[in-house]
Amino acid sequence: MFPKRLKGMLDILPRESELINFIITNFEKIVKLYGFSLIRTPILEHAELFYRSTGLTSDIVNKEMYTFYDKKERLLALRPEGTPGVIRAIIEGQLSLPQRVYYLGPMFRYERPQKGRLREHYQLGLEIVGEKSPYSDFELIKIGNHFFSEINLTDTLTLVNSIGCEKCRPKFREVFLTYLKDKENLLCLDCQERKEKNPLRIFDCKQEKCQRMIKESPKVKDFLCADCQNHFNKFLSYLENSNIKYKIDENLVRGLDYYTKTTFEFISESLGEKISIGGGGRYDNLMKELGGRDAPCVGFALGLERIYYALRENKNLNYLKENRKLMIIYDCEESFSEAENLADLLRKENIPCYLNPDLENLKRQLKIADKLDIKYVIIVGEKEREKGVYLLRDMISGEQIEIKKDEIINKLKKITNV
Ligand code: HAM
Repeated sequence: MFPKRLKGMLDILPRESELINFIITNFEKIVKLYGFSLIRTPILEHAELFYRSTGLTSDIVNKEMYTFYDKKERLLALRPEGTPGVIRAIIEGQLSLPQRVYYLGPMFRYERPQKGRLREHYQLGLEIVGEKSPYSDFELIKIGNHFFSEINLTDTLTLVNSIGCEKCRPKFREVFLTYLKDKENLLCLDCQERKEKNPLRIFDCKQEKCQRMIKESPKVKDFLCADCQNHFNKFLSYLENSNIKYKIDENLVRGLDYYTKTTFEFISESLGEKISIGGGGRYDNLMKELGGRDAPCVGFALGLERIYYALRENKNLNYLKENRKLMIIYDCEESFSEAENLADLLRKENIPCYLNPDLENLKRQLKIADKLDIKYVIIVGEKEREKGVYLLRDMISGEQIEIKKDEIINKLKKITNV
């Protein structure tokens, strides 16, 4: 049997790519308004980069990373997320700080495929490197919400929290471990292990029994040091003075090891709280830990497929400009060069069109046009050539009219909205 698509990986077919492109184009348009520039980094990195950033106690590195040895026995990984590669590139490229960068690309996580969880997914990400103000944290949330409103995704909510820093977290850890004492058996096996390595991870666990345990537990946000508390308060005051719909979620610790202070996630009601459409936070220590300058950082990434699903669920896609596709067909060898000239003329005028070079009878070509969902067909026929006209056929109504050659561009501009 011919090998099939890998589990958890998607083909984006032409009928889906219009909405996908709409999302990407608007993301780029909005983030450029806030001073972000594109950065592209490799999909393959040394696995160690992720061990030292995303972290050995994160599920992403622990269970989900695609790793392999290359021909020189180097341990490589398909990137499971974008942040570590971007920070590495900024260090290696010796970029001046501050920097605001955005990236687009595929990420790989060996997850158990289920609704909204893919093994290859595409992220739209932003990183601000070298800005410490809580306004930057807020501004990222503002950008996310600006983008959602631009693409008409109206049912979103932003969840926020603070998980403190290396100064305040040890105190929380102590209190949390005391709370967990004698309750170990009530945790899932994974969380029993997490308790030893990084108890904060227990807050990420999706198992119901662990969720029950943390419901009443102490929360990291109540143990913030003065610096983290001030940062959080200021961040919240910016949110309060905006019209962004947000909620504090004390259990939002995020599943990656590098976060400090602010954490946040975007959700869409149509997909539910468990499937975030994006998430991020501050990570003030990562750059230094990767050998760079001691620069505060904050960022987020959106899941393209999840945004796509959320928009589809919203069923509110009328605003998408209909792609009025055009096809040129011809009836004999002699008409082909005229059809080709016409196609080039249309392209010069930015009118997209498709000319199928295979000569078939007109009926068959119209059938092809129909299957391709073509809205208008221009027929370059022998008889019409003699009369100096083209035939323009509306594929939806079936109506067919003659148009003088020198009037074709103006007519098409009107009907194709270009
Ligand atoms: P993350 O929350 O792991 O954060 O991923 C960001 C987004 O990617 C998620 O909110 C979700 O929409 C999407 N996503 C993640 N895993 C999958 C999956 N298996 N299938 C489909 N979509 C998925 C990060 O990756 C951080 N690098 C974000 C960040 C940037 N933090 C600071 N800067």
